[in-house]
This record gives sequence, C-alpha cells and structure tokens, in this order.
Amino acid sequence: LNNMAGASERTFIMVKPDGVQRGLVGEVLRRFEQRGYKLVALKMIHPPRALLESHYEEHKGKKFYDPLLAYIGSGPVVAMVWEGLNVITVGRKMLGATDPAKSDPGTLRGDYGIVTGRNIVHGSDSESAAKREIDLWFRPDEVSNWVHTAERWIY
Ligand code: PPS
Repeated sequence: LNNMAGASERTFIMVKPDGVQRGLVGEVLRRFEQRGYKLVALKMIHPPRALLESHYEEHKGKKFYDPLLAYIGSGPVVAMVWEGLNVITVGRKMLGATDPAKSDPGTLRGDYGIVTGRNIVHGSDSESAAKREIDLWFRPDEVSNWVHTAERWIY
C-alpha cells in the first residue's frame, strides 16, 4: 500500500451540452472511473445564465465569452466531482488541449472533438479553480465521502 497523501484532491469536470447530446457522458465517466478515480458528486443541470457568468467570470469581456455562454447554456450539462491523487493535472491531460485540433489522440477531445467551440468537456485548471468551481456547482451535502474499497489496488 503506497502513501495516500494527496489522494483526497478533487476536481470539477463537466460534460458540456455537445457531449451530452452526442452520448459521450458514459465515455467520460468510464475513463475517469477506469483510471481509478473516485466519483464523489454527479448531476445533470441546464445551467442558468447567472451560474455560467460566475463559472466563466475570468473570461468576461473576451471575444469568445458570449458564444461560450450561449453554447454552455444551450442545454443540460453533466457536472461531476472526481477525487484522487493529482486528479486536477491528470484530469486535464485526459481531456486534452482546449483546442481539439491540438489534442493528442487518446484524450477525450483528441478522440471526439474538432473545434474549441464544441470541445465536449470542461476540467478545472488549478487547485483554486477546482475549489471555486466545486463550491459553485455543488452544495456540500451533494458531495459524498464514500469509501472506495478498491482503493488499495489503486495506490
Ligand atoms: S484563455 O483566454 O487562454 O484563458 O482562454 P482558454 O483557456 O483558451 O479558454 C477559456 C474557456 O473558453 C473556452 N473557449 C471557447 N469557447 C467557445 N468558442 C471559442 N472560440 C472559445 N475559445 C475558448 C474554452 O474551451 C475554455 O472553456 P473550458 O470550459 O474551460 O474548456
């Protein structure tokens, strides 16, 4: 059994409306589950404008801001919280580059995406973003502290 320090790191992952419409929710879940990460929160929500304004507040004023909010607000998304060692960094690698044209095959965007404006999935890019996004999308009682009994075969 290895040192478990850091195994409680959490990240916010969201399947965007295109990912939902294209039937990729299961694929995103499968990849994170099979990698060994622990799912601790999950919900489908058609995000209201105010939630997206908070989520993307750092991008307000940029030229992609309006199309981005229209795209993410166009239908239901599947929001989730994943837990595990280095899950923020590794999760971003599993997603691939923001622009699917620059994403390696084997990543979610590299396997399923073509353009940035339909890039299937979002993942927190830092510890502070992860905390902010998890707190924004989930109430504390929506995040589970269940015990992953297979964890000793992962760490
Ligand atoms: S920046 O300015 O470098 O911080 O922006 P970037 O990290 O590349 O992207 C920030 C988020 O905006 C999304 N984005 C877009 N959406 C739609 N259309 C266009 N043209 C576009 N350009 C960037 C990008 O996917 C990021 O969203 P998330 O949800 O984090 O993937």
